[in-house]
Amino acid sequence: SINVNDPQLITLVNKLQDVFTTVGVQNPIDLPQIAVVGSQSSGKSSVLENIVGRDFLPRGTGIVTRRPLILQLINRTPPALPQTNGVNGDMKTTDEKSNVDEWGEFLHIPGQKFHDFNKIREEIVRETDQKTGRNQGISPAPINLRIYSPNVLTLTLVDLPGLTKVPVGDQPRDIERQIREMVLKQIQKPNAIILAVTAANTDLANSDGLKLAREVDPEGQRTIGVLTKVDLMDEGTDVVDILAGRIIPLRLGYVPVVNRGQRDIENRKAISQALENERNFFEQHKAYKNKSSYCGTPYLARKLNLILMMHIKNTLPDIKQRISSSLGKYTAELNQLGDSMLGNSANIVLQIITEFCNEYRTVLDGNNQELSSIEL
Ligand code: GDP
Ligand code: NA
Ligand code: MG
Repeated sequence: SINVNDPQLITLVNKLQDVFTTVGVQNPIDLPQIAVVGSQSSGKSSVLENIVGRDFLPRGTGIVTRRPLILQLINRTPPALPQTNGVNGDMKTTDEKSNVDEWGEFLHIPGQKFHDFNKIREEIVRETDQKTGRNQGISPAPINLRIYSPNVLTLTLVDLPGLTKVPVGDQPRDIERQIREMVLKQIQKPNAIILAVTAANTDLANSDGLKLAREVDPEGQRTIGVLTKVDLMDEGTDVVDILAGRIIPLRLGYVPVVNRGQRDIENRKAISQALENERNFFEQHKAYKNKSSYCGTPYLARKLNLILMMHIKNTLPDIKQRISSSLGKYTAELNQLGDSMLGNSANIVLQIITEFCNEYRTVLDGNNQELSSIEL
């Protein structure tokens, strides 16, 4: 899963959300969402799943992802008190108990907590069929899923149907245009980070993902190239030239990955096992072993973290402005009320804001090693 190496800014943003919610301002910071784009079966869902580190997305050959999935990861620190097995605890299986602090919730079924991630996948499939029929139909209506976990960064990932040209089953005749529009809608937001996924055993020059990414991000400021299926390349071929920027250069570069193959999915190979295989693959391959720390899912996740932190850092001056004016307005209101009326809650809000501003200054003014070293 995404392990934040330097959680300072993430914590800061969480605090910021709290402060603004307390003073009644929603969405103080528009965190970038990360969206995957690429041809059908290039491995988009597999990449997202590996980044999250949990099995829960439908994957497979053919058009499996048929509606956009807006996946909000929400960092939730478990309560400090040790959990005891209450009445509910006794009813749970051992497996469920271990996931007690990690669950999913769908917007279309509010209040129902999914602790079993296989059930999440089943619900995505059910809800997809419900809207699109079973015969490979598509729909632009997104499925909204939130995952609460202590092991994730608070951010949004978007899984999208693959770009395809020829309609099959119940698909509309203009399927190509419809999917294009669905995808464009998610990636044209200027702060979306685009994972342009291309299978390494196909020609990069024909990459639908890169082509579409370029339309909305011609300078390549927010597009990361992800090369999947590196394990399926012909003997003697590799992606070294692509990584070196000699084929289609991208400012943010490319990350080669090895996801689980169809056989692995059928055998329910665990993500942890798949990540270990991936690491071994790059460490042992003669073309990659001298650069294996720049290969694989953990490197991709780290790259994403840094880009995210960079974005937050760039947004801070504006946030500071908004906090100051909020603070000014609030202080004026409090002064009008007079000291005797100063309620406890008002004091707490002021305290939080002051605390936040101090912390904010520390981060922005201090020289955060990781942030200053990021290459953009
Ligand atoms: P999507 O349609 O782009 O979302 O692709 P999926 O994630 O559903 O994957 C499509 C198929 O490709 C599945 O059978 C995956 O097991 C397989 N696949 C994806 N990535 C890789 C990879 O890196 N290596 C191998 N061998 N198979 C992969
Ligand atoms: Na697929
Ligand atoms: Mg998919």
